[in-house]
Amino acid sequence: MTVPPTDPALPIARRIERVAPFLAMDVLAAAAAKERRGDSVVHMEVGQPSAPAPRAAREAAKKVLESGSIGYTEALGITPLRERITRHYRDTYGVTITPERVIVTTGSSAGFVLTFLSLFNPGERVAITAPGYPAYRNILEALDLEPAAIPLMKDTGWIMTADAVARRHAQNRLAGVLAMSPANPSGTMIQAEALRALSKTCKALGLWLVSDEIYHGLTYGAEASTALSFNDEAIVINSFSKYYCMTGWRIGWMVVPERLVRPIERLAQNLYISPPYLSQVAALAAFDAVEELEVVRAGYARNRALLLEELPRLGLSDMHPVDGAFYIYADVARFTNDSVAFCKRMLDEAGVAATPGMDFDPVEGAHYVRFSFAGSEEECREAVRRLAAWLK
Ligand SMILES: Cc1ncc(COP(=O)(O)O)c(C=O)c1O
Repeated sequence: MTVPPTDPALPIARRIERVAPFLAMDVLAAAAAKERRGDSVVHMEVGQPSAPAPRAAREAAKKVLESGSIGYTEALGITPLRERITRHYRDTYGVTITPERVIVTTGSSAGFVLTFLSLFNPGERVAITAPGYPAYRNILEALDLEPAAIPLMKDTGWIMTADAVARRHAQNRLAGVLAMSPANPSGTMIQAEALRALSKTCKALGLWLVSDEIYHGLTYGAEASTALSFNDEAIVINSFSKYYCMTGWRIGWMVVPERLVRPIERLAQNLYISPPYLSQVAALAAFDAVEELEVVRAGYARNRALLLEELPRLGLSDMHPVDGAFYIYADVARFTNDSVAFCKRMLDEAGVAATPGMDFDPVEGAHYVRFSFAGSEEECREAVRRLAAWLK
């Protein structure tokens, strides 16, 4: 029997057309091409720590690697790690949860897929912020859910407020709310009282509250609060990627209400069987590396202070409050109304890679740029030197 040739015109799923590329990764590719041509680039485009994973994590992984025994684990993760995460909630926030409610995931990215699949039916609407982390919008679209963008406003502190959620719900029924604090791209935090109000409103309106807490630990004033302090039904999503400097290990976690554990376990078993064992062992050890990780955080704090002082001198003074994370989201309206072209020129002419705001907000993002300060202090200084020469 002859196999017919693959028809290039065979249709692919329509939902894929709604999934946008991640512009930060496109900038990264353009920056890498420039470097291959021998040019130097200061990288401020991707949100990843330049510091390595903590030594203790690497040592723990090395031991397991040498044993050679790296198999599947329980779909929900190994018990010692789930127990250690439980302790983390007690020590950090004074919140008591049982280890059964902790689910270890392949990065927080998998946590979103598990959450959306288990909470929402096709066509339901989930509130997100604009600007916001682009994958929210794209994962929701890929799962036939509808992102409902809530534009952030200066007069309400650039955060998702309880009132804005209630108004949005009154306009068009929501099924859930995805909050993030500290936020990407802005670094702005929802302070405890505002998070309490948001939690209360979600409860009152019967909306799921999903709280992305991936930048916890990276704050420069008040500590971040967990939604679990105010709403026991909240789904909390976190990761070892940012504070723990373990992006490539693809390891994160969720805390969910008890009744969701088994449904999510069924999904995890079928979607990816288990999170990677090697990374789980490393992540467990990372909890004991606070001293090392605090040195990294202190470096971000110095970078932040440097940029907050220097960027305004270059005309980049209008930025969201940088309470946490490692980003500056600057309004560049005085230079451009096309942030994609602006970032391209900044890379080509100044050798500074940054991410156009269009990644985070398809409307207002046309006049915003996100600078990541997760690199070294020297890189930040060099970026300022290059931008000063380029913008003058
Ligand atoms: C707000 C936010 N959530 C989630 C993620 C995904 O992180 P990971 O899948 O590495 O845990 C990122 C990555 O940049 C992020 O900025």
